[in-house]
Amino acid sequence: MAFRCDLIIRDATIIDGTGAPRFQGDVAVNGDRIIAMGDLGSAAGQEEVIATGLALAPGFIDAHTHDDRAVLCGPACQHCKVSQGVTTVVVGNCGVSLAPLRMTRRPPPPLDLLGDESWFTLGSFAEYAEALETRPTNVNTLAFCGHMSLRVEAMEGDVYRAANDREIAAMQARLSEALAQGAAGFTTGLYYAPNAQATTDEVIAVGEALRAHGGIYMTHMRDEADNVLDSIRETLRIGRETGTAERPVEVIISHHKCSMPENFGRSRETLALIDSLGQDQPVAFDVYPYPAGSTVMMPERLRQDVPVQITWSVPHPEVAGRDLDDVAREWGMTRKATAEKLLPAGAIYFQMDEADVRRIMAHPRSMIGSDGIPHDAVPHPRLWGTFPRVLGHYVRDVKLFSLETAIHKMTGRTAAVFGLQQRGTIRPGNYADLVLFDPATVADRATYKTPTLTSLGIHRVWNNGEATLNTEGLTGAAPGRFLRNPRLAA
Ligand code: ZN
Ligand code: CU
Repeated sequence: MAFRCDLIIRDATIIDGTGAPRFQGDVAVNGDRIIAMGDLGSAAGQEEVIATGLALAPGFIDAHTHDDRAVLCGPACQHCKVSQGVTTVVVGNCGVSLAPLRMTRRPPPPLDLLGDESWFTLGSFAEYAEALETRPTNVNTLAFCGHMSLRVEAMEGDVYRAANDREIAAMQARLSEALAQGAAGFTTGLYYAPNAQATTDEVIAVGEALRAHGGIYMTHMRDEADNVLDSIRETLRIGRETGTAERPVEVIISHHKCSMPENFGRSRETLALIDSLGQDQPVAFDVYPYPAGSTVMMPERLRQDVPVQITWSVPHPEVAGRDLDDVAREWGMTRKATAEKLLPAGAIYFQMDEADVRRIMAHPRSMIGSDGIPHDAVPHPRLWGTFPRVLGHYVRDVKLFSLETAIHKMTGRTAAVFGLQQRGTIRPGNYADLVLFDPATVADRATYKTPTLTSLGIHRVWNNGEATLNTEGLTGAAPGRFLRNPRLAA
């Protein structure tokens, strides 16, 4: 059929995001949509891209980010993500969201992962949505409302305790409001003080807002180490009790892992438990492709058998990027005293087993999420390297799974889990979120020592039909949109 359109990508190896085998073809884009695919020999595009030898996939969806603030400061702030082929980020994770919360003093960790009090100026989720629309960026944003943000607002004075009934009611009302204003669900970070002080009943009571409005419960679980199985049971119970008997709330376990050497290998047990409980209720998880985690510096949780690299420190910015033991030796202090002296600070913890990382990633319920922390001085390399690392290292070099499976875990599966409509697969009618890359050369370059290097092999990225990355780098275009709670209308 002969027609004219804005863009035709010709002779690409199309990996459509569903997990189906690749095929050769052309894709036509008009406005913000894919309008046709197949052999489009007689059609003409305003712009034509010859993609011979390259793979065309749906734009990657980063299932787990802390980009709440990064998406508000323009296209350059998302260079780390767009350069990996990312077109959508999920924010508000681990109980930490920028909205709804106004702060006049430094937020307690881990809330300060997003910045100091000067960044907490959005008193409602509607204000966050509005900020995203008036200051657009180059990725789409799906935003969750964080338990810790609600707690810090609702609990006067001491937050290092369980909330009382009045405070719980206030949090529940704020969550309802956020969901009605477009939040995709509720997240917790029960691993961290002061959220660790919240009881399961507190979480269920606040999360009851999900029943009326629809939305997902997503969690950095209370314990990812010795008691990881109990944490999985707690998470699934929260999903059941915040939903109805017929329709439990969908749960997502964030950055699933088995932490600490004595738990290495236990992903066999955790995945079996998730599969057995998952027969009766919806459950998914995300994972990043590295055996090290990263979060705030927690001196009381340091262990001699877990190496630590400093990512940032307010009083001692000069040690960012260095090994904690080296700094301790230089300062003639214990590890713990050194860590305390660095506070507030962040760190990378080498606390996982590579075999667990692979087993979790290869499981059919997994989605890829970077968990990148964008404001760290010397961040974990997952911020710049996650998606190309899966495609290069784990698909091409290790052969952990097929390229089609890897793409599915970054696109179609993720869109289905989050309920994103008309994204995550290449199909006429869908939004034109696309990435063109070279499967033979795609690779991460970011390392623990040099964490902010862009990847290789990502040629072009389009978001809602507009090019956000071309062969020269970021285009500066900002077609990203705020994606309102997709379940709200349902
Ligand atoms: Zn987390
Ligand atoms: Cu996180």
